[in-house]
Amino acid sequence: MRVLVTGGAGFIGSHVVDALIAQGHEVVVVDDLSSGKEENLSPACRFYRLDICSPDLERIFREEKIEFVNHHAAQIDVRRSVASPEEDARVNIQGLLNLLANCLRFGVRGVVFASSGGVVYGEPDELPVKETHPKGPLSPYGVSKLAAEYYLFYFARVHGLPYVALRYGNVYGPRQDPHGEAGVVAIFGRKMLRGETPTIYGNGEQLRDYVYIEDVVRANILATEKLLNKAGLAFAGSIDDFAYNIGTGRGTSVNELFQLLKRATGYEGAAVHRPERAGELRRIYLDAEKAARELGWQPQVGLEEGLLRTVEYLREGAVEGRKI
Ligand SMILES: NC(=O)c1ccc[n+]([C@@H]2O[C@H](COP(=O)([O-])OP(=O)(O)OC[C@H]3O[C@@H](n4cnc5c(N)ncnc54)[C@H](O)[C@@H]3O)[C@@H](O)[C@H]2O)c1
Repeated sequence: MRVLVTGGAGFIGSHVVDALIAQGHEVVVVDDLSSGKEENLSPACRFYRLDICSPDLERIFREEKIEFVNHHAAQIDVRRSVASPEEDARVNIQGLLNLLANCLRFGVRGVVFASSGGVVYGEPDELPVKETHPKGPLSPYGVSKLAAEYYLFYFARVHGLPYVALRYGNVYGPRQDPHGEAGVVAIFGRKMLRGETPTIYGNGEQLRDYVYIEDVVRANILATEKLLNKAGLAFAGSIDDFAYNIGTGRGTSVNELFQLLKRATGYEGAAVHRPERAGELRRIYLDAEKAARELGWQPQVGLEEGLLRTVEYLREGAVEGRKI
């Protein structure tokens, strides 16, 4: 099948590209390289350096005969979204609408959308948080991710375009960008390998759900299969019916993460503490029971193992002299 992966030069998208190619699909990538890197791109994909908001997207759909879309391109930086909600909405909402118009025009069979369980719920009342928990995004980025789910819902219900939204926890692993939601792993890991002191904001007891990239990629493959089989897609009454939390169900504090990374990197120093940053959630971790039941997805790589693999990747970068 001919699959378009938007954001395929980025952290998560590039791993999804690799997995789709390994499954025998033909993959086309659209990415403007604003945060993605050409070196992440599989040599087996066809790459277009393009903004997803561009009218040229139509030509790519037509010429490449796109049949399925995996949408990972986004403005992903929470603080940038606060500084410029307009730019966040331009990419995350207008870009999505451009993409969806083309999906309809060219009869695309389904869309997998990268949403965020870390931001659409806001500060949850109950943990681990289920898909049906009330939504209360606390940043423009969270608003745009949630709005994107509503647009997808509308396109599905009114125009018959099938989709699945995967609400990721904090995704970490090789190729990860320090600006993303699990940026702390890349930032701490890099600093500790260089012998520099990492900074912990607040008391370090903030809880997050760290999910390893390989598990996230498998969720994308399972969601693709579900859309192609069209199994269980008929009775959807709200965005939550189309959404799956992708997380471990376990909250890990920044302090705990720091200790685990100390072990993985061999760093022996302490961390510096700075005042807590405004607008940061206190605790969030995700109940992924629905993904287990309906997609057959469960996380398989534990945090310790995943961190070891990530540090190994960062260490190799150091040895080869690439910027880490
Ligand atoms: N990393 C996480 O923990 C996490 C958690 C929840 C959701 N997500 C979502 O997963 C997706 C991928 O995130 P990531 O962590 O891999 O980030 P990333 O920055 O590595 O990937 C995003 C990619 O999109 C590209 N891009 C940005 N704006 C674009 C535009 N206008 N046109 C074309 N391409 C554009 C970037 O160049 C980059 O390659 C995003 O949608 C993000 O919101 C990530």
